[in-house]
Parts: sequence; structure tokens; C-alpha cells
Amino acid sequence: MIHVDFKHTINPIPLKDYEERVKIINKMIDDKSGKGNDFLGWTTWPRDYDKNEVARILEAAKRIQKEYETLVVCGIGGSYLGARAAIEALTGLYPDNRLEIIYLGQTLSPNYIAQVLKHLENKKFAVNVISKSGTTTETSVAFRLLKELMLKKYGKEGTAKAIFATTDKARGALKQEADSEGYETFVIPDDIGGRYSVITAVGLLPIACAGGDIVQLLKGADDARIAYDNGDLSNNVCYQYAVARNYFYTHGKAVELYVTYEPHHTQIGEWLKQLYGESEGKEKKGLLPDSVTFSTDLHSLGQFVQDGSPVLFETIVRVKEPNQDIVMKEEKENLDGLNYLAGKKLSFVNEKAFEGTLKAHEEDGKVPNIVITMDKMDSYNLGYLFYFFMRACAMSAYLMDINPFNQPGVEIYKHNMFVLLGKPGVK
Ligand code: PA5
Repeated sequence: MIHVDFKHTINPIPLKDYEERVKIINKMIDDKSGKGNDFLGWTTWPRDYDKNEVARILEAAKRIQKEYETLVVCGIGGSYLGARAAIEALTGLYPDNRLEIIYLGQTLSPNYIAQVLKHLENKKFAVNVISKSGTTTETSVAFRLLKELMLKKYGKEGTAKAIFATTDKARGALKQEADSEGYETFVIPDDIGGRYSVITAVGLLPIACAGGDIVQLLKGADDARIAYDNGDLSNNVCYQYAVARNYFYTHGKAVELYVTYEPHHTQIGEWLKQLYGESEGKEKKGLLPDSVTFSTDLHSLGQFVQDGSPVLFETIVRVKEPNQDIVMKEEKENLDGLNYLAGKKLSFVNEKAFEGTLKAHEEDGKVPNIVITMDKMDSYNLGYLFYFFMRACAMSAYLMDINPFNQPGVEIYKHNMFVLLGKPGVK
């Protein structure tokens, strides 16, 4: 479960002014009658998901954990960010008790790719290649290079056994290749776009491989669906959040800054930037989503938030109970002067950083803050959080009269790049 606190927004959000529109839009989402209505499959997916496929995902994850040292997750954008956000939030950055997970296919950097390939030379690794279109250049290039290495290490049969392809059920180059080479495949449903796909095989296979409980994640998402599929704005914090964004957008704010207080949650900020940026940033409209990890970034962007141009509001995603804690000890010499913290938990110190910052930004900086709190970070709560943000994103984009499910702007760079690279058939 999550709690949303609107007590720090400087001005109260005029919910009454939005009640009718929210009711109409919620019905439009349910009836699938709004813009981009072919891509609303995620709204009911946590209830209707393919149970056999989830069983197959769990089997594949077990096999990968047993037979391999490393899993390479090869995808970009919506075919990568959700899985990474979940894996880091649930299992951390340096876990010693799970399969190593490496990300590839999200960059064309020769430095990064060459280093990863070198690292993999001495690893027994499997690959989960993820692409709905099956033709994304970053992913395809990395996948080709991975296969070259795998063929050298495992031969043709071993390579086919070590590749798991998550893609469209019928279309695209990756699906054709998977069928002809005999890779195990998982489906990205037709009616779910990349940035809403973390609750499908796209996110679920890598998350399960890392030890996340995907059944609980889906249960959390489904409980959020039940709570938030509700056009009564006075009772729906998910839509209240969407309305608050719209209110800030129409009252002089251009930027929403997502704030987390854990390096393990930094990738949630990356996932949010993509979800909101790609869903809403169209037709010269939309809030610019940015993200920071405090207290780290209080020593960089914190200055701007406190004192710079008043263009932003903050949305804080915090977790009450840490999964691990440390108690500060007393030291005889006290050379660092930290004995005043002896006996205190680090979670307490981090909490005071949060409280002190909230007060500074709200009272002195006059920066509006929305505070979203999860009791703890586990698979269930994370599924709930994912759904909260996806549903709020759809509402938020529709309030701006934007189609939340396409990304026409992304195509332009791709086209230019293909022309410059001389891709056959592209002018
Ligand atoms: O959200 C989206 O739709 C995009 O970010 C896509 O996920 C991204 O472009 C990758 O596309 P594909 O899965 O077709 O490789």
C-alpha cells in the first residue's frame, strides 16, 4: 500500500474544479474510448494476465538461476527501465546472493559494450532479449554481438538454449529469428506499450531471475487497480496526484522533480522520467520530469531546488522501513565529533535528512512537495506503486488532451540515424 500526502503543496489543490473531468476521463479509460485506446491493455492486465505464461516465466527463471552465473537483459526504454528499477529496488546494487544481472542493448557506446562483452567472456551467461518491435537498433546491435560471443562459447545449440526472447506474439524480426532458431519466447501483448509493460513478461522474467516475487508484484498491481479504477476524485489519491500535476502545470511549474532517498531507488526515478516524459511530452505540452537521489543530490541540484528559478515541484517517493539498517556506535576518541549519533539507526538519520529537506524546500524555498510513502519496499508494494504511477500518467496526459501511448517524437531521431547510416530503404 502507499500513502500520498498533499499537505506540503504550498497552495491547496482545487480538486472540486476537476471532479467532472476526472469522472469522464476515468470512464474513457475503462471504456477504452480515448486517444490511443488500443494500448490500454495494462489497465486490467494485473487481473487478466496469462497465468500459464507466468508459470513458464517462473520455470525459465529457475533454470536460468540454476544453470547460469549471469543474466544479460538486452533492451532499451520501456523494454528495460522497469525491470532495472524493480531489480535494484528489491535486491540492491551489490547483492551477493543472487544471479548477476547486466544490462545491454540500451546504448550504442563502444566503450560500454566492449567492456561488458569482455566481462562476459569468462561468465556462463544467459540472455533475455526484449523488444516489442524486434527492430530497435540499440538492442539488435548488442544482441548480435552477444550471439557472436555465445556461439564461440556454447555452439549453436547451447546458444539457442541460453537465449530467452520477449517480443511480439507474431510480428517483427526478433520473433522470426526466435522461431527459426528455437529460442524460448515470451509475449508482449499487442495492447500494452513499452513503458506500461513492466507488469508483463518484459519486467517479470528479469525480476523473477533476480529473485523478486512476481506473483506478489502482480497482486500489488491488481490491488492498486481495484483501488484506483474509480472516478470519484475525492476518494482516489492516484487521480488526486494526476490533478495536482495538472494544477502545477497550469500554474507556472514546468518541471516535476522525482525524489528518492536511496541509491537502490534511483532507477525508479529513471523509469518515472521515461513513463511521464514519453507519455506526456507532445504537441509542445507536458511537464519535464527529472529525478534526483537525496541526500546525494542535495549536494548538487539541491541548491537549485532550494534557491533557483521557481519552475519546479517535487514528488518524493519514500519508504518508511528500510530492508537493512545499521546502528551508529560510540567511539572513545570521537575525533569526527559524531558521538551525538551513537545509538541512532542510519534510517533515523536518513529520515531526519528527509524531514529537514522537506521543511527547507517548502517553508524557505516555497517549493510545492507531494510525498508518496510506501511502508516497505517489497514486490507487492512495488507492483502497487508501478500501477499507481501508470494509472496517474494516463489520467494526467488525458487532462492535457494528449495521447499517453504513442511516441511520435522518438521516431525522428531514428529516421535521421538510419539515413546517416545508409540503412537500405530509408531516405
Ligand atoms: O515506451 C516505449 O514504447 C519505448 O520506450 C520502447 O519501449 C522502446 O523504444 C523500445 O522499443 P522496443 O521494445 O520495440 O525495442
